[in-house]
Amino acid sequence: MVRHLLTLNDLTDKELLEILDFADEIKGNPKQYATAMKDQTLLMIFAKPSLRTRLSFEVGMTQMDGHGIYYDLSNSPMGKKESIADTARTAARYVDIVMARLFGHEDIEEYAKYSKVPVINALTNFAHPCQIIADLQTIREKKGGKQKKLKGIKLAYCGDGNNNVTHSLIEGCTKVGMDISVACPKGTEFEPQAKVIEIGGKSAERNKCKLVITNEPHEAVKDADVIYTDSWMSYHVPKEKEAGRMTMFKSYQVNSELMKHAKKDAIFMNCLPAMRGYEQTVDVIDGPQSVVFDQAENRLHAQKAIMLFLLGRMGAKG
Ligand code: CP
Ligand code: NVA
Repeated sequence: MVRHLLTLNDLTDKELLEILDFADEIKGNPKQYATAMKDQTLLMIFAKPSLRTRLSFEVGMTQMDGHGIYYDLSNSPMGKKESIADTARTAARYVDIVMARLFGHEDIEEYAKYSKVPVINALTNFAHPCQIIADLQTIREKKGGKQKKLKGIKLAYCGDGNNNVTHSLIEGCTKVGMDISVACPKGTEFEPQAKVIEIGGKSAERNKCKLVITNEPHEAVKDADVIYTDSWMSYHVPKEKEAGRMTMFKSYQVNSELMKHAKKDAIFMNCLPAMRGYEQTVDVIDGPQSVVFDQAENRLHAQKAIMLFLLGRMGAKG
């Protein structure tokens, strides 16, 4: 059966950890995978801008002797003259694997339903699973010690809770046994969606860790090992909401005062792109606790691991 990665819940807890181990293995021995994607083609569908996702997927394919096709949705009939289903059925006749960055999550679900080749969610309004796989790899490197342990590590997220990165963080952290506290303003516009809290709660119970949603950033960051934030203006948020959101999120800004309430050696993370002076201050993102560019680098290693996993080629060394 063809495997897709639309949210982290498409993976078992064990598979998620296997992908993290595999990403570490590829990172440590990239030359071993120099032909792992020989004769394979990745279709990269983009409805939104990207730096990291596009580069890491495309470079990842190049480094493994495969090929990536960048496909800008504004130059495509998909969703206009051609249905998502027909696009998916057609593309699968040419390419071996697809990644798509779309607006509606239901659109990628529709695409995957008709695709005979694996489909990877490269960000929808609802979820960003690839980002969080790279983030967990980064957290393990920085905080996991020799045992590469994620259990017992606490991550605090401050800012927009109804957000793709936040949703995937809730799914990912609870699947690997990490505690996660999300601090966001009250109201459905800003809080994580109920279905994510429900599934995250079940994973937290299974893996004996904590999922907390609060409106208090200081409470969230207390004893945290990782402080995480993301844009207050995600790609899909309309411009007219900007002024109101800046006011709502102001007290959730990650600044040095807030960082003081976390563990002394806490790391700071942001999936990027970042706006200095908004979701975090300059001194935090450009300071010694920030690991944002290590996160960005790990997108490359994690992307390779995800693609090889979905294609059933985890053993494929070059
Ligand atoms: N973090 C991330 O997905 O970045 P891009 O939007 O640049 O791809
Ligand atoms: N939440 C952000 C993530 C960007 C990688 C957005 O959707 O724009």
